[in-house]
Amino acid sequence: MFKDIRDYPNDPIEALFTRLEDDANPDKIDLGIGVFRDDSGNVPVMKAVREAEKRLFAQNLSKSYISPLGNADYCRDVERLVLGKDHPAIRPGRIVSAQTPGAGGALRAGAEFVSSLSAESVVWVSDLVWEHQLGFFTQAGLELRRYRYYDQFNSELLFDGMTEDLQAMKANDVLLLHGCCHNPTGQDLDLDQWKIVADIVVKTGAIPFVDVAYQGFGAGIDEDVAGLRLLAGIVPQLLLTVSSSKSFGIYRERAGLLSIILPDDGVEFESVRRKLRDTVRELYFMAPDHGAAIVHEILSTPELEALWRQELNGIRQHVMRKRKSLRMAIEKTNPGFDASFLELQRGMFSCLPVSEDEQMFIEQRRHIYMFPNARVNVAAMSEAQALILANAFADVRARRVSPATEGQLASA
Ligand SMILES: Cc1ncc(COP(=O)(O)O)c(C=O)c1O
Repeated sequence: MFKDIRDYPNDPIEALFTRLEDDANPDKIDLGIGVFRDDSGNVPVMKAVREAEKRLFAQNLSKSYISPLGNADYCRDVERLVLGKDHPAIRPGRIVSAQTPGAGGALRAGAEFVSSLSAESVVWVSDLVWEHQLGFFTQAGLELRRYRYYDQFNSELLFDGMTEDLQAMKANDVLLLHGCCHNPTGQDLDLDQWKIVADIVVKTGAIPFVDVAYQGFGAGIDEDVAGLRLLAGIVPQLLLTVSSSKSFGIYRERAGLLSIILPDDGVEFESVRRKLRDTVRELYFMAPDHGAAIVHEILSTPELEALWRQELNGIRQHVMRKRKSLRMAIEKTNPGFDASFLELQRGMFSCLPVSEDEQMFIEQRRHIYMFPNARVNVAAMSEAQALILANAFADVRARRVSPATEGQLASA
């Protein structure tokens, strides 16, 4: 049974972590993993989370199963947090939700749900894309197609290319969008652009599938989901996934949401609920509860919610400071180079305008480790590391304009 997988290929991200681990240089820099780190390099646990856990432990809650659809209180709280408590999409009869093992579980279950109803649907994904996202859909048997989204070398959104590509979507195709803080580029749509996309969705009959993984990391807790709220007010149906990993800092607790927003007539509601229940049950049987219980405790306790909002706003400001200092470091070490994109983009990630070879050169010479497409976790970077990265970028650029060293660069 196992001999056929002897040469199973490695995943480029695991390969990166192996190189990082094997690198004995004490000054190596990890800009890869997508977690928020504070100034001391730690992944902090929010005070609101610790307090919620204390309260949960004091209640001595049961550890019995809940249901395949998970923690219903969490679902209701997160639907409101993301869509807004008065949004027409959360009217009774319009939204069916499952609490899932993180947004990863939600993406996989959402993909399975789509493929079981409409195996011919094509899933349209942005180029660049968070590569892990693709497997959720291909494993469900769905075909992927890329739409133009971001020009890494000019650090800009390709909105005209995007809208041109999306005109080719067919009814029941799925349009995967990131609600905010696009992974890996940090490049988001503005509200006018969300409206144009909504109009294309309505015209083509495609179904948007919006993945919200970083609410609160970009412009603000409500501001980050304004585009999604606009879209959900225009299109008749939508799939939504939400991660609580980053916004609550509970990565390993695995709390996420999968929602299916239905047309206003409420006709399919009960069948969709049963179908979603069976889909998740067949994938993983039951969802974990601890993370969902923490989020519910916070969002249903006014003083904990206020504390959480304050902490998340602090994280957002930290991220914005980091973006500014990386921009300044790069502009200082690369006179004339415009790095303003770093401050315009949102959330933890941006992609540096360097090629794969150049990224490898930086890794080998400077011991700086980035994800594919030179994605850096800006939020995880100290001032000193920002300066080292800026200098490495300057080295790379110097080699580009010096013909004598171009060949060395390509083979570095
Ligand atoms: C865009 C996006 N969606 C979903 C996820 C998965 O999040 P979770 O930890 O909730 O599974 C991530 C994690 O990095 C992400 O970046």
